[in-house]
Amino acid sequence: MRKRIIVTGGNRGIGKEICKQLVSMGHDVFLTGRDIQKGEDAALDVGAKFRQLDVSNGEHINEFIHEFKDEVGGLDVLINNAGILIDSGTDVMNIDFDVVHKTIETNLYGPWRLIQGLLPLLEKSANGRVINISSGMGAIQDLSNDHPAYRISKTALNALTLMVHSHSGSLINVNAMCPGWVRTDMGGSGASRPVEKGAETAVWLATAEEIANGKFLRDKTVIDW
Ligand SMILES: NC(=O)c1ccc[n+]([C@@H]2O[C@H](COP(=O)([O-])OP(=O)(O)OC[C@H]3O[C@@H](n4cnc5c(N)ncnc54)[C@H](OP(=O)(O)O)[C@@H]3O)[C@@H](O)[C@H]2O)c1
Repeated sequence: MRKRIIVTGGNRGIGKEICKQLVSMGHDVFLTGRDIQKGEDAALDVGAKFRQLDVSNGEHINEFIHEFKDEVGGLDVLINNAGILIDSGTDVMNIDFDVVHKTIETNLYGPWRLIQGLLPLLEKSANGRVINISSGMGAIQDLSNDHPAYRISKTALNALTLMVHSHSGSLINVNAMCPGWVRTDMGGSGASRPVEKGAETAVWLATAEEIANGKFLRDKTVIDW
C-alpha cells in the first residue's frame, strides 16, 4: 500500500536517506526542511515532494499542519528526524542554558508539536505510525555528563514516545529508534555506520506489516530505554 509519509530534516544526512529509500519503495514522501533551496534540491534528488518546515518554530509548525491538512488531507507516517547537537565539549555543570533551550526546542518541542497537530490525521489512517529518531545517548542506563542538552533532549523524546503511546494505545504505532553512530554532518566522518544503515530501522518501522508499539529500537530490535 502506498503510504503518505512526512520526514522532518530531510535535506541531508539520515533524513534524506530515509526519504530516498521510502521513495524507491513507491511511497508518497513529503521531505521537509527549514531551508527552501536545500530542501528543494534534496527532494528533487530523491524524488520526494518538498514542504518547508522549521521544527523549532511553533507558529511555523501550526501553519505547516494547517496547509498539509488542506492540501493533502491524510497522513500515514510521521518521522521526526530533524535534530541538533550543539553542546560538544560541555558538561552538565557548565552548559549554557540558551544551548539547552535551543536543543530542547528542536529535538523535543518540534516532535511534540507535530505529533499533537498531526495525530488526528494519523489516527484516521488504517495504519498510522510515529517514528521518533532518538539516540542511545538518551538511554537512561547510558547517561553520562557530556552532551547534557542533547542527551536530555533525547531522554525526553523517549519519554514523549511512551506518553503518546499511552494516549493512543493501539490506534497508531509510536516508537523511538536509535540509528547507531552514523557518518553524517552530526556523526562525523569517523562514525562506524554508513547513512544507509542509519536509515534502515526507520524505513522498516514505517513500512513493515508487523512492528512494535511503544518501544525503543536499534537495528530492528527492542533496546532498553
Ligand atoms: N549521526 C548519528 O550518529 C546519530 C546518532 C544518533 C541519533 N542521531 C539522530 O538522527 C537524526 C538525524 O541526524 P543526522 O546525523 O542526519 O544529522 P545531520 O546530518 O546534522 O542532519 C540534521 C538534519 O536536521 C535538520 N534540522 C536541524 N534543525 C532543524 C530545524 N529547526 N528545522 C528543520 N530541520 C532541522 C537539518 O537541517 P539543516 O540543513 O537546515 O540544518 C538536517 O536536515 C537526529 O535526530 C539525530 O539526533 C544521529
